[in-house]
Amino acid sequence: MLTLGIETSCDDTAAAVLKDSDTLLSSVLSSQDQIHTRFGGVVPELASRQHLEAIVPIVHEALNRAGVTLKDIDLIAVTQGPGLIGSLLVGFSYAKALSYVTKIPFIGVDHMAGHLLAAFLEEDKPDFPYIALIVSGGTSSIYLAQSHTSFSLLGRTRDDAAGEAFDKVAKLLGLPYPGGPRVSAEAMAGNRSAIKFPRAWLGRSLSFPGASDTKPSLAIGHSCAIPGTRDTKPSLAIEEESLDFSFSGLKTAVLNHCNHAKQMGIPLQLADICASFQEAIVDVLVEKTMLAAMRHNVQTIVLGGGVSANPRLREAMSSRCQLEGKAFFVPRPSFCTDNGAMIAMAGFYYSRESVPGSYEQDVYSRSQL
Ligand code: KG4
Repeated sequence: MLTLGIETSCDDTAAAVLKDSDTLLSSVLSSQDQIHTRFGGVVPELASRQHLEAIVPIVHEALNRAGVTLKDIDLIAVTQGPGLIGSLLVGFSYAKALSYVTKIPFIGVDHMAGHLLAAFLEEDKPDFPYIALIVSGGTSSIYLAQSHTSFSLLGRTRDDAAGEAFDKVAKLLGLPYPGGPRVSAEAMAGNRSAIKFPRAWLGRSLSFPGASDTKPSLAIGHSCAIPGTRDTKPSLAIEEESLDFSFSGLKTAVLNHCNHAKQMGIPLQLADICASFQEAIVDVLVEKTMLAAMRHNVQTIVLGGGVSANPRLREAMSSRCQLEGKAFFVPRPSFCTDNGAMIAMAGFYYSRESVPGSYEQDVYSRSQL
């Protein structure tokens, strides 16, 4: 079975051809980074116009590189949401039109399902159940995955997504878009303990303000004492720790640090700021993922989404999994960021359980998973 995957949820036009569940014949992508760089972020109107120009050549290129024609394709899988509505409409309308003229069935895919399954594009595949941390420009979510099509949301961002925080901090530091890779490149030369930026543990900080810089202990079943409040407050049970994320306070802390340094005439140590900021994000992502795994007694961890291309996050999650005796899977960086291959894979699995898409269907901006 050959699946053509099409992805246009944000600012990358991507297509891929997948044979059965795991033989990737091609995966091509047209990036819009150069167009959006001068605006410091994605301009939705420009993104959809660029998708219109790129979609036909990108799909043809994917078919050519796979050595197949449309006649060989059995299923068209296309991102239906979440994402920018104008961008989604280009790919979704194109897929519907292609399906209409060729009579190839199409299926709308939730972009998050793509990220949740991207690890299966690699040779070494995870077993179910697994805990997945999906971190991108639009989301920071933890899921319990029970099968290729069964995912339970355990925690999500309450404000900025991790990638959004990277991009916004990059912008305030004067680094060009896309900010995540720039911040992580700068961080390589920095000291990650140089500046103590806050970690929002939420469950704890909501109950005990002032205790937000302390990691929750992962000794499940035991209660965790709150440093600084130990004498006055009862300990908080590990079950009460929230699996939600919040990164907007961290972004403000970086801004305050920069403003303070400027007022005092102290030169900004860019590499140290980037490394310390990155560490604050990575710390929370790793701890909450491990907490989810402990709570659900799951032995496998999977990473996905654009931010999982971050080398420090990959390294920190990998060593933590090793320490806790958990199996760890993360796709190569090009399958962490948006791509057509993961959409083809998700479409393949979902098509076995649901009816094909209908022409009345529309795109949506919020994930349905
Ligand atoms: O998954 P993705 O390609 O697009 C969606 O948001 O769906 O993720 C893009 C996000 C951007 O916010 C980008 O800055 C971030 O992933 N990103 C990174 C890195 N590479 C991409 N963030 C931190 N470190 C990286 N190396």
